[in-house]
Amino acid sequence: MRVRHCTTTLLILLLAACAKQEAPTPPPFKVVTDHRQTMEWILDPAADLIWDSAGTIITAEGQQELHPTSDEGWDEVARNAAILAESGNLLMLPGRSAGRDWNEYASGLIEAGILALRAAEAQDSDALFDAGGRIYQVCLACHNQYLIEVDDTGEASDQATLSAQP
Ligand code: HEC
Repeated sequence: MRVRHCTTTLLILLLAACAKQEAPTPPPFKVVTDHRQTMEWILDPAADLIWDSAGTIITAEGQQELHPTSDEGWDEVARNAAILAESGNLLMLPGRSAGRDWNEYASGLIEAGILALRAAEAQDSDALFDAGGRIYQVCLACHNQYLIEVDDTGEASDQATLSAQP
């Protein structure tokens, strides 16, 4: 009787150990930059480089195309498009994400970043211009929801209505 009891206990313990082993261990993510730093140091410079590489401006000399004219120039656009696309993943990390809507905007950033990357790889200035527009829409959409005020320049205000969720 006692032996059987012991066996049963042992079996339960073994099963418990197995079940415990199967639970996935989350990767050791470690969020380093706060939202403001992520925006100012990672997203914003990458987006600026792309916006400054697309479209045309009017100067004293006439109309000037902004798109790169060398392979190195296009490579730089591609690098920054990749940073922007991957930063969508950064925004979705536990500790940064603010929930489902937030993750949708972050996914939108990944897709728009991929469009810019493909445009840079193809050295297609029209496609890059379109991708730049898509990127801008995503920035704006997330700011509209998660910032109390966004002033005329598109710069975010100091107050954020953000509460990060696990
Ligand atoms: C998923 C949501 C989200 C997306 C997408 C997003 N932002 Fe932000 N952004 C925020 C939040 C939240 C803040 C406020 C941070 C704070 O002040 O704590 C912010 C603030 C900023 C700021 C102001 C930083 C400061 O000085 O306060 C800049 C600049 C900025 N974002 C640029 C961008 C650009 C450029 C893009 C698109 C390429 C973008 N953001 C996309 C959420 C987002």
